[in-house]
Amino acid sequence: MEITGKIATVRKRIEQARRDGKRIGLVPTMGALHAGHTSLIDAAVQACDYVVVSIFVNPTQFGPNEDLDEYPRDIEVDSRLCAKGGVELIFVPDVDEMYPSPNMTWVNVEELTTGLCGRNRPGHFRGVTTVCNKLFNIVRPDIAFFGQKDAQQAIVIKRMVADTNLPLEIEICPTVREKDGLAMSSRNRYLDDQQRKDALLLYKALTRARQMVQQGARSSREIIAAMNEILQSAAGVAVEYVSVVDPETLSELDTITERAIIAVAARVKTTRLIDNIIVDLNKQ
Ligand code: PAF
Repeated sequence: MEITGKIATVRKRIEQARRDGKRIGLVPTMGALHAGHTSLIDAAVQACDYVVVSIFVNPTQFGPNEDLDEYPRDIEVDSRLCAKGGVELIFVPDVDEMYPSPNMTWVNVEELTTGLCGRNRPGHFRGVTTVCNKLFNIVRPDIAFFGQKDAQQAIVIKRMVADTNLPLEIEICPTVREKDGLAMSSRNRYLDDQQRKDALLLYKALTRARQMVQQGARSSREIIAAMNEILQSAAGVAVEYVSVVDPETLSELDTITERAIIAVAARVKTTRLIDNIIVDLNKQ
C-alpha cells in the first residue's frame, strides 16, 4: 500500500491500474476511520481490483463555528486499517493541494440540500459536493462508496453525479452500529460516558419509530412526537430535527405510504450526531 499527498501521483497510479485493466474503487473519508469506514473498504475491495481511500478533512464543508480544528486526525491508525483492509493507495492531500487558490468554482445541488441538515448547516453540502467532484475527477473511480448513515449526503452526491454526467456508480452501504445500536461516527470520540449514554437515545427513538410503523402507524406527526418524547428524556440532548422524508426527493411526508427515511439530528452537549432508518411498507 502506498500513501501520497499528491494529485499527480494518484493520477499516475490510476493510469497504470487502468492500463492493467483494473476496476477502480474510491472510499472518500475525512479519516479517523472506524468500522463504518472499514465496511465501505470491504465493499470496495469486493467489487473492485484497485481501491483508493481518500483522507481529507475538507474545510469547505465546515461552518465557521463547527469542529474543523477539533476533528480527529490519526493517519497512523487509519493507514494500518487501510493496509489490513486491502487498500492499494491512500490519498491524503493537504488543503493547498486540494484548494491551491481561493475556490471560485462550486458544485451545488439545489433543493435536496435545503432541508434536514442543510437547514442548520448552510454551505455544508456545497462543500461536500465540491470536494467529491474534485476527488472523482482526480481518482476517476468506477465506483465510489458512501454510508447510509449520512443519508442526505448520499442522495445529494448521487444527484450531483447524475446531473453532471460523471461516469461512475455510487454505492450506498448500510449503517454500521455499535453493539448497543449507536451508529458509528468519527464524532462519537467526543462523547464522555454520560454523553455516550444520551447519544443512544437517537437509536432508541428510531427503533421506536420502526416499531410504530410495524404496528400500523402511518402519520409522521404521531411518529415524530413519540421520537421527540424519547429524545427529550435526557437534559443533555438538544434535538435539531426529527423528520420523515421521501427517500428520493427528501420532501417531508405527512403520511407514510410506501418508503420513507426517518431521520434525526441532535446535539449531545456540543457534539452533533445524525442517524436514520429506511422504512418500506412493501417489505414488512
Ligand atoms: O462523509 C464524509 O466523511 C465527508 O463528507 C466526505 C464524503 C468524505 C467529503 O468530505
